[in-house]
Amino acid sequence: MEKYPGKKRIAVFISGRGSNLKSLIKYSRKKNSLIKIILVISNNPNAKGLKYSTNSKIKSYGIKFKSKSSFEIKSLKLLKKNNIDMLCLAGFMNILSGSFIRKFSKPILNIHPSLLPKYKGLNTHLRAIKNKDKYSGASVHKVTEKLDSGKIIYQKKVKILKKDTLKSLEKKVLKIEHLIYPKAIIKFLTSL
Ligand code: GAR
Repeated sequence: MEKYPGKKRIAVFISGRGSNLKSLIKYSRKKNSLIKIILVISNNPNAKGLKYSTNSKIKSYGIKFKSKSSFEIKSLKLLKKNNIDMLCLAGFMNILSGSFIRKFSKPILNIHPSLLPKYKGLNTHLRAIKNKDKYSGASVHKVTEKLDSGKIIYQKKVKILKKDTLKSLEKKVLKIEHLIYPKAIIKFLTSL
């Protein structure tokens, strides 16, 4: 018998610290959560987040990044073998190929530290401060072949104050990332 009937089987891809992964694990452990995290994969075997997921007794793999295609072939095998229903990117700093997205063929979500469609790609906080934006924020969106351009599922703003620095803004945005990723997952899964 399935141990977690009805819960979606999730894999999370990370590259580093893993604070969003932590918030997803925390949510997944709630009694009424809609997900069970089955697998964590990193393209960086030294990612700090892998230690946390291993300690949380989740199957965790650090796949040495020799090339995009070898990483994608290995991780696709793991996703299929573990019957993963949905993939969540959480600080995964690599762009998945169209071929990977098509072959996986299940939903892929990503969290991005800006108010998309503003500031796709890297250095989002720096660009927001340089442009003297009044607000920044975070977005959870569906992953498509076009970078940071898939449908936005959930977004939340934070105010940029005059005294904000790169560090303080990153901290503020990260805090709301931890809140919105679980919310976005609930919104997405209940809309299917
Ligand atoms: C987060 O701010 C996430 O939004 C960002 O990397 C950080 C990872 O932190 N992701 C991207 O920029 C993806 N393009 P974490 O490892 O502590 O979750």
